[in-house]
Amino acid sequence: MSVLKGLRIWWHGFKTRRKMDRVFSRGEDPYHYADSPYERARLDGMQAALGPCETALEVGCAEGLFTERLAKLAKRITAVDISSVALERARKRCPEASFAEADLRVWSPPEGTSYDAIVLGDVLYYLDKPMVRDGFEATFPRVAGWLKPGGSLLLAHGFAGPKERAHREGFTKRFQDQGLTLISERVIGEGEADGKVCCLLSLLRR
Ligand SMILES: C[S@@+](CC[C@H](N)C(=O)[O-])C[C@H]1O[C@@H](n2cnc3c(N)ncnc32)[C@H](O)[C@@H]1O
Repeated sequence: MSVLKGLRIWWHGFKTRRKMDRVFSRGEDPYHYADSPYERARLDGMQAALGPCETALEVGCAEGLFTERLAKLAKRITAVDISSVALERARKRCPEASFAEADLRVWSPPEGTSYDAIVLGDVLYYLDKPMVRDGFEATFPRVAGWLKPGGSLLLAHGFAGPKERAHREGFTKRFQDQGLTLISERVIGEGEADGKVCCLLSLLRR
């Protein structure tokens, strides 16, 4: 990677970290996961899509609400987030997981580590910005390469309206281009036709 590209990613990561720390510093549960029926249905759907496994990686784990559910399915969990404020709560919520504070674009698992399941929930669109396009595109082969053969990749991305849905489908397509097979895809939430926020839930397998 050139110095300029590296600097751009560092700068964008710095700004994202500052923004996310600000969001989580407003108080617990800034996305209202606890009291939103849509968010609960989304998390239920994500949990139901995955089976029991040995090792799982969650990127963009936030305060650990899904990590806690993942702990019921996986024996060992690694969870990554860019926000230290969110991670402080995630560590308390789910002490059995190991957490890393990092930007997905520069973080890698320890040499030789791969996972039975990887979860990316509402995180990829934070990385998809014109200024740092190269780092974003490089994320797909990197993440696909961390899956064990037969391992599952779960993508869950909110969208409102057809334009955003097509954008989120582009994430799935990029993983398919890396040789992953799309196993199932469904939309969670009411009112897609009225432009209400829904979740595109895609399960891929290596
Ligand atoms: C909207 S929350 C999603 C939380 C959870 N994954 C879910 O599905 O509900 C997005 C999370 O992604 C994290 N995030 C954003 N950009 C990131 C990056 N480049 N690397 C790692 N985490 C990032 C944010 O700090 C935030 O906690």
